[in-house]
Amino acid sequence: MDVQTVRRLEAGVGSVATLMAIMTALDFRLTGLGSGTCLSEQLRSRRRTRSLSLDQVAAKAGLSRTTVASLERGGGSVASLVKVLTVLAPSARRRAPERSFWGQGDKADRDSRFTPPDFMDSVYAAFGPIDLDPCADLRSPVVARRRILLSEGGDGLVDDWSGQLAYVNPPFSNMLAWLRRAHDQWRAGKVATVVCLVPVRTDSTFFHDTLSADADIFLLRGRVKFLSARGKPQYTPFSLMVATLGATTKQKRRFSELVPGHWLARTQLITAENQPVHSPSPAHPKHIGARASGG
Ligand SMILES: C[S@@+](CC[C@H](N)C(=O)[O-])C[C@H]1O[C@@H](n2cnc3c(N)ncnc32)[C@H](O)[C@@H]1O
Repeated sequence: MDVQTVRRLEAGVGSVATLMAIMTALDFRLTGLGSGTCLSEQLRSRRRTRSLSLDQVAAKAGLSRTTVASLERGGGSVASLVKVLTVLAPSARRRAPERSFWGQGDKADRDSRFTPPDFMDSVYAAFGPIDLDPCADLRSPVVARRRILLSEGGDGLVDDWSGQLAYVNPPFSNMLAWLRRAHDQWRAGKVATVVCLVPVRTDSTFFHDTLSADADIFLLRGRVKFLSARGKPQYTPFSLMVATLGATTKQKRRFSELVPGHWLARTQLITAENQPVHSPSPAHPKHIGARASGG
């Protein structure tokens, strides 16, 4: 593309085809529209989700039906696209590019991201009241009977865990150590159920050998708007999962009714004869074994 075309686009002038090419080059995607792999598909699915006909959108946007239909095929001008977006998705905005970390800034700052109250409401409703937050923070909205606080000399990686339910949104910079700790404490029977909210990182031996055998994994659709230390909401720039240990089928079902996403099927081994068999999960502590579900 020549410089002049890009310059014109930055001034709001140009074709949607050019805009989409630039968006692809910059990995610039919009959120707040419908599903689809490109802008035109997203526009169409957004219109359909809102049960609007081409004529209705055209009338509201002050455009012809042909122009709206053309936009949905990747044609049209940026000026007409802006009019249609105003009608269909006024709150559409740039989706943060995928990264595996929160961003720049020091580690303590990056690790100070708190679970938002609306997400916690779903956790309470599905799993019940929280007995322990082992990596708590005085600024966090998480409500737990017991909180292990660094600021008060506690250390969730050392202090014993306790109670029926632990909720763990750990410092992501040390996520693996926290997942190991959660698993150890659960296996030792210190807590009956653990709910961990963590980035989807599946490359570790621990994930493959231990967690995927013992934990139920829920892949979140969309991202969670965490609260920064300054109380500012911020979407994670990475995908998230909830890993639970010892959760019942009822708790998991309720959670999936409240939070968009889905539970992964438990690990299965494929035998030489190609017959899938359930992997031999290590023994659970007695009082937990009865609660653990096969997923
Ligand atoms: C991602 S925040 C989560 C806070 C809270 N659990 C929530 O979900 O809103 C993680 C917190 O763990 C705290 N933390 C870091 N290392 C810790 C440790 N060894 N023991 C206890 N807390 C720790 C940090 O101070 C940080 O505020």
